[in-house]
Amino acid sequence: MVKRKSQILMLDHSKAKVMLLQKYLEKYLNIIANDGFTKKINVFDLFCGEGIYDNSGEGSPVVILKTLKDLHFTNKAKNKTISKVDLFFNDRDESKIEKLKNVINENKLHYESFGRLVYSSKDYKAIVDGLAGYIQEMKNEKAFIFIDPYGYKEIRGSELKKLLQSKKSEVLLFLPTQFMYRFNEKGTPEALIQIIEELVDFKSWKPSVSVYQFIEQFKDALKSYLGKDFFVDTFSIEKDAATVFCLFFFSSHIRGFEKMLETKWQIDDDEGKGWSYEQTGNLFSVLKTNPLEQKLISLLSSNNKVFNGNIYEFTLRNGFLPKHSTEIFSSLQSNGRLDVLSENGERVRKGAFYLSYENFKNSPNKVYFKLK
Ligand SMILES: C[S@@+](CC[C@H](N)C(=O)[O-])C[C@H]1O[C@@H](n2cnc3c(N)ncnc32)[C@H](O)[C@@H]1O
Repeated sequence: MVKRKSQILMLDHSKAKVMLLQKYLEKYLNIIANDGFTKKINVFDLFCGEGIYDNSGEGSPVVILKTLKDLHFTNKAKNKTISKVDLFFNDRDESKIEKLKNVINENKLHYESFGRLVYSSKDYKAIVDGLAGYIQEMKNEKAFIFIDPYGYKEIRGSELKKLLQSKKSEVLLFLPTQFMYRFNEKGTPEALIQIIEELVDFKSWKPSVSVYQFIEQFKDALKSYLGKDFFVDTFSIEKDAATVFCLFFFSSHIRGFEKMLETKWQIDDDEGKGWSYEQTGNLFSVLKTNPLEQKLISLLSSNNKVFNGNIYEFTLRNGFLPKHSTEIFSSLQSNGRLDVLSENGERVRKGAFYLSYENFKNSPNKVYFKLK
């Protein structure tokens, strides 16, 4: 049998994919393993592949193992005890699992002291329900699930919901959005209908003029399907001008979601396409508009009292970080366009906006914002 090239060589978009996985896991594991509450973290790689490609590119299981190894030894050096991390690697193709076992043993990528290492070679469909049940039963444990199929046809929104609903898990899903977009050229979101299966309001769906617009609409449809209790964001990977893939991130916890967005912005900043905000008053600012600034202004204009907790959540739900809103508010405040008032209506110290997770959790109504 002639193998498809993409199965044996690790291509650039796969590198971008595992880089996001690695950077996110680094943050996630470090926070959760040290939170003093979580006894065990479970990482599931459900379409794991063989680990190392013929061009020595590293696949998701190797990236996961290396991240865990680093975490373990960094904390050991600081004399810190961290929670156990159990790893589950699954791939329908038994020969790939055998290869992966060899890679892990030969390179000593795992030690018993990290936690359990479990392999299986089952069909995703045969394990997804059991996995959702397993997560449901977990006590003081967390789960991270990586879903990286070749296509999208096996994936169902109802499965994602099941995996997320106990609010102890996060899911990272890779989808070949370019192909899904191509099938959407006539304006029917075939892939969306297939994934969501249920009655969804497709009336608001418009034929997309670009794959990026398709991804935005797709994300919004998944958001409304999953509802307010869940957070969804995307990370697009452009292999070349005609091929764009996308990672979808799902979380039921706002803090986990913030960490994912931090990872995404960190990668964007490293590649020079990150945040750039021209302050009002700048020579060029009349020519540029900032999407977050526009959204914040319209939120403040249409509501009487918008509190710091509301702004924190609004910022994240729109895919930005609290530091971005802080920058915009600083500029509006310096230009005399924003009042920041305490609950009893008094002005607070300049530059204090209270947009962190800690404030969201402990004092979400500490201050409110009013446009002047
Ligand atoms: C895109 S590759 C995964 C790549 C891997 N995550 C990496 O980073 O190297 C998809 C993998 O899923 C496996 N696969 C395909 N259909 C499957 C199914 N229904 N259940 C489980 N595994 C499946 C394939 O054998 C293949 O190794």
